[in-house]
Amino acid sequence: MLSATRRRLVEGLRVAVDDAGYDRAIEDSDVELEAFDDEEKGEFSTAVSFAIGADAGENPMAVAGDIADAHRAHGLPEGVSEVSVANGHINYHLDPEAMARLTLETIDGEGDAYGSRERADPDTIVADVSSPNIAKPLHVGHLRNTILSDALMNILEERGHDVTRDNHLGDWGTQFGNLLHEYVEFGDEAEFEEDPIAHLLDLYQQFEQRDGMLEDVEEFGALTEEFEAAVADERAHHTAAGKEWFARLERGEDAAVDRWEQFREASIERFEGVYDELGVDFDRWLGESFYAREGWTDGVVEKALDEDVAMRGPDESVFIPIYDDDYEDAGDPEAASVDASLDRAREMVDEAGSVEDADFDAFYIVKSDGSTVYGTRDLATIDYRVSEFDADQSVYVVASEQNRYFQQLFVAARKMGYTDVRLEHIDYGMISLPEGSMSTRGGQIVTVREVLDAADERARDIVREKGRNVEDDDIEPLARKIALATVKYGMVAANRGKDITFDIDEAVSLEGDTGPYVQYATTRAYSILDSAEAVPDVVDIDPSLFNDTDYDLIYHLGRYPLVLDRCEERYDAAPLAHYLLELAHVFNSFYHKNRVLDAESAAEERLALTATTAQVFENGLGLLGIETLAEM
Ligand code: ARG
Repeated sequence: MLSATRRRLVEGLRVAVDDAGYDRAIEDSDVELEAFDDEEKGEFSTAVSFAIGADAGENPMAVAGDIADAHRAHGLPEGVSEVSVANGHINYHLDPEAMARLTLETIDGEGDAYGSRERADPDTIVADVSSPNIAKPLHVGHLRNTILSDALMNILEERGHDVTRDNHLGDWGTQFGNLLHEYVEFGDEAEFEEDPIAHLLDLYQQFEQRDGMLEDVEEFGALTEEFEAAVADERAHHTAAGKEWFARLERGEDAAVDRWEQFREASIERFEGVYDELGVDFDRWLGESFYAREGWTDGVVEKALDEDVAMRGPDESVFIPIYDDDYEDAGDPEAASVDASLDRAREMVDEAGSVEDADFDAFYIVKSDGSTVYGTRDLATIDYRVSEFDADQSVYVVASEQNRYFQQLFVAARKMGYTDVRLEHIDYGMISLPEGSMSTRGGQIVTVREVLDAADERARDIVREKGRNVEDDDIEPLARKIALATVKYGMVAANRGKDITFDIDEAVSLEGDTGPYVQYATTRAYSILDSAEAVPDVVDIDPSLFNDTDYDLIYHLGRYPLVLDRCEERYDAAPLAHYLLELAHVFNSFYHKNRVLDAESAAEERLALTATTAQVFENGLGLLGIETLAEM
């Protein structure tokens, strides 16, 4: 009937255009299907008034008005209750029965593609996702990133874009020089073999703590001058040794590279275990080291200097100056207007007497010792994504802690001439613990492992207690899926921008507005369908039998594509999570009020409605990376 209605509309439009005195051949594609719950647009609309207006040299609004009048004079096509005109478009509104039929038939016809879009000109999006630093465990901050970015990328893909998920590992930088030094001096092969990440974390913390302690002594003064001098020496020794190791790494010396590779591989192996459990995947694992080792960082430094975008300070460091007015709309290619000249910066330095005191922000790309930094690698990444991927968008799912940094990066990139790529920092709130902010330095973290284990345990208890038809052997895998639903739903549904104080009990709770609630609604739909003798074909049902409760559910099913639109617009999966929860509530009241299986009337209609609802749950949960369950 989707096609029947459209056919009738196309036919009616042909007549109306002719009646209104215009000469234009009407194609099927002139009548477009709109999302179902937009009152203004109606369920179908056409924009032919623009083409006709352009040909005839007339205002499209007037043309649309004429055609709508002709429609009304001729009598509206069957199933259409109203024709309206808005912004030059002609909109067709269906009567509720026609609309119910249309919704169900669309979902039934499109199946798991319901909600997806095909684009004539999709964006090539390269996205930074997860991106932890190596040699440390994954913590809840990474969990939030990994889950949120996975859902979001699924959605962008579903909306027809071409997405590359790049796990931009933090695997390069001075800290790895420090770690190499610490390992060479205090490391233990056996301990590394036993638990590489734990050992490296110990060494990392040891380096940081010693440095902090020595710094304190330096600052507050020691009892004797000799002691103070000894402390300063000791600190300088470690810092210099760390720097030297990083320099060796940058020069590619085997002693440094081999060890570093060991650290990196052990980390990746550990990360992969967690990612597998979470069911997430990446297309690339380029990491910061890739850009440094393959010459991309040298390339951008050279380019920045050659093009006079960056300048050299008196200490031989290299930086791109960023003026206050550069910051406006820095990520938006259309709005970005930046001042790439160095003249202002030179004047400002002259006036202030030093780079530090000058009235601009310096985005460093080379340190005074000649090494590159985080920002150099990010500029190199943009260069690579533009030249190798021809990216339309380079987007970054990274915590809001780095907001200022990304603003600067984007300005620096514009100055370097990367103006055709949309740069977007998809930031999310920081996660802190009830006892304060998380820090790998101080050792205060909750690891992903701890969260998953706690969630598993909780889910196992519940399944054992309440699972109806669950065999003993099935408890573990079932509990795992429920646990993941809890954790994933919680992470995605939280307001993206808001900081979270992480409470593990809350995070693994199965009560209330959770992923398992949505899973459970889906399982209920499956079991209704299972108990039915046969599920009728949607074309055979009689929509005049639907009551208000049914209509409410149908309306929500029709909204689904619009929800995905909103997610795409906001780079956020939360609207989808909220929608699915609402759908679960609406479906539950539908089920309780209408008692599908022993309904006195409309049993067939409601079975068909249950089947389409299950389809929408599957599609939506699938995008969030949550599995549906046949039994629960
Ligand atoms: N590894 C960094 C961190 O843990 C995040 C990297 C984000 N992506 C980027 N392109 N800078 O803080």
